[in-house]
Amino acid sequence: MQRLLPAPEADAGSSPFTSLFEASRYSVESGGKRVRSLLVRAAAGVLDKEINHQVLDAPCVAVELVHSYSLIHDDLPAMDDDDLRRGKPSLHRAFDEATAILVGDGLQAKAFELLATAPALSAQQRVCMIEALSLAAGPEGMVGGQFIDVHATNSDMPLDQLQAMHALKTGALIKASLRMGGIAAGANDAQLQALDEFGHCIGLAFQVVDDILDVEGDTATLGKTSGKDSEANKPTYVKLLGLVGAKAEAQRLLQSALDALESFGDSADALRDIARYIVERDH
Ligand code: IPE
Ligand code: IPE
Ligand code: MG
Ligand code: MG
Ligand code: MG
Repeated sequence: MQRLLPAPEADAGSSPFTSLFEASRYSVESGGKRVRSLLVRAAAGVLDKEINHQVLDAPCVAVELVHSYSLIHDDLPAMDDDDLRRGKPSLHRAFDEATAILVGDGLQAKAFELLATAPALSAQQRVCMIEALSLAAGPEGMVGGQFIDVHATNSDMPLDQLQAMHALKTGALIKASLRMGGIAAGANDAQLQALDEFGHCIGLAFQVVDDILDVEGDTATLGKTSGKDSEANKPTYVKLLGLVGAKAEAQRLLQSALDALESFGDSADALRDIARYIVERDH
């Protein structure tokens, strides 16, 4: 991260981009649960326990950069208009809107630079990872889901459309994390398919739980403003199914996710633990 976004000592005062890098670091060094990079590592570990962890550094950081960019833009006034992120003022509050837009754009580009130049990956792995992450981030993935989300505010959405929206806006990057882990470990088609199925279920569950936490969580624990979804009249699982229904759906998705791992036996225990964490977490 230091290499990607030069630290203050390295660029202080000497570059017109000093505050751009400062704002970029503000976002990526502010923590977050790093679930997506954990999924990259756990997916690779399913197939190759001895995998050289340096092979996984680029996809782990790349997916977290794209995720951080998605959160920066998600918080903008034109989208969810959120003042708090990861326990701190959101980026456009700490800096300004134009900086937040540009930091998001820059982090996304850095993610692909990182994959394209990763020394520990083969050329084939780089291309396959870039394909997986770009598809997941783009209009047929996260951006498409976010587009549906912002335009569906104040409308009633049937369950199948809500599921499709969640699968895109949140599920796509989670699926890509698993796929990149699989690619790093040399997965075959059947193994990638099992990881995809697991990713589909746990990606959806992730957003169902995020919807639940928006209602049940408190702002201090979440590190982001609770109650935003109902305030903005967003379509969510809780709005459609109620809290009890949404929790049952999260459990059903967890079970389907665990079922998808059956063929991997004990080697998938780390993925099982992450899946349970995703559904049982409090922030
Ligand atoms: C929040 O994601 C946004 C959604 C996709 C639901 P996370 O809950 O993974 O956010 P951080 O990275 O831990 O802050
Ligand atoms: C955002 O969903 C999903 C993204 C692609 C960023 P939310 O709008 O529910 O995420 P939070 O609750 O603000 O983290
Ligand atoms: Mg949103
Ligand atoms: Mg939001
Ligand atoms: Mg939310």
